[in-house]
Amino acid sequence: MTGSATDAVVLVGGKGTRLRPLTLSAPKPMLPTAGLPFLTHLLARVKAAGIDHVVLGTSFKAEVFEEHFGDGSSLGLELEYVTETDPMGTGGGIRNVLPRLRADNVMVFNGDVLGGTDLRAVLDTHHSTEADVTLHLVRVGDPRAFGCVPTDADGRVTAFLEKTEDPPTDQINAGCYVFKREIIESIPSDRPVSVEREVFPNLLSEGKRVYGHVDTAYWRDMGTPEDFVRGSADLVRGIAPSPALEGARGESLVHPGAGVAPGAVLVGGTVVGRGAEVGAGARLDGAILFDGARVEAGAVVERSILGFGARIGPRALVRDAVIGDGANIGARCELLRGARVWPGVTLPDGGVRFSSDV
Ligand code: GDD
Ligand code: MG
Repeated sequence: MTGSATDAVVLVGGKGTRLRPLTLSAPKPMLPTAGLPFLTHLLARVKAAGIDHVVLGTSFKAEVFEEHFGDGSSLGLELEYVTETDPMGTGGGIRNVLPRLRADNVMVFNGDVLGGTDLRAVLDTHHSTEADVTLHLVRVGDPRAFGCVPTDADGRVTAFLEKTEDPPTDQINAGCYVFKREIIESIPSDRPVSVEREVFPNLLSEGKRVYGHVDTAYWRDMGTPEDFVRGSADLVRGIAPSPALEGARGESLVHPGAGVAPGAVLVGGTVVGRGAEVGAGARLDGAILFDGARVEAGAVVERSILGFGARIGPRALVRDAVIGDGANIGARCELLRGARVWPGVTLPDGGVRFSSDV
């Protein structure tokens, strides 16, 4: 059956709340990641797997996707958009694109997953098990933030437990599914539906054939600042694969038109966006500078994201923090673990410190 036409659906309608304030101006799948909107990496993988027809299920900031990707021809795809005025949930979003689907089997993706899985192998599992639905599964250290999915000795799914405090296994839903079209037809169309909390548990209790495809390829959900920083750095360093990135990878990625002063140190998969500036002696380790961001002389930025046009003053320290678009962090300020500065906010020189030295 391999080689038969398959449609892809990518769910991109979430609000990306865990990545605020960056997601106040852009939807999560459009945030710059190693120089490209995140979704480009996923769409390039879909294309590389031989799938040409992709439907995006949009809602929050829906117009941004079409403005950027258009008809998909620049990626060699035929791209369509279906927008939920009010978010219909993950299951409702899949049901909502049904009129655009043409194939008997449909591959569905969460729009925020960075991975290296062999998608053809997932399709092969779906066909060889004659499954109604096949779920891509991975093992993680802490399954509580995900959908926990135990399977039996034949790989058949025995339960689906979304974000449970007491997971029976470290095997989780990786956010990629193959559905038989008739299963999508059976999802209610008149109300929000969660695929994780309603569709999968119901299919299991009805005795439908739900199978898991487990692998050990690179996998990361980019939904939190920590994961976004790690995933972006892994792309820059070549640890995470992406068919959308060409050429050598290394410790940093500096875009054309960015300025890096002599003596600045850029390591750990740092990205310096278009028109961004890095001052003399600044140290950037796993930093992500969106376009037009600026780090002044002697500042240190570690594992943090600086939004469009944000500025970090001289000798400031920013570590494990998110700085909103256009925010202005004064000289010698210290912003540490978990700090989030909202867009446009100005902190005066020395205005926030974790130590008493000046
Ligand atoms: N169209 C549409 N409509 N898309 C939605 C909606 C909606 O109402 N709600 C969420 N999405 C999209 C998001 O944009 C995202 O791409 C995807 O669905 C998953 O939503 P997240 O908010 O990122 O979910 P999660 O990370 O907490 O959990 C999901 O992903 C995990 C793997 O990364 C679940 O599927 C878990 O079971 C899974 O383990
Ligand atoms: Mg997610």
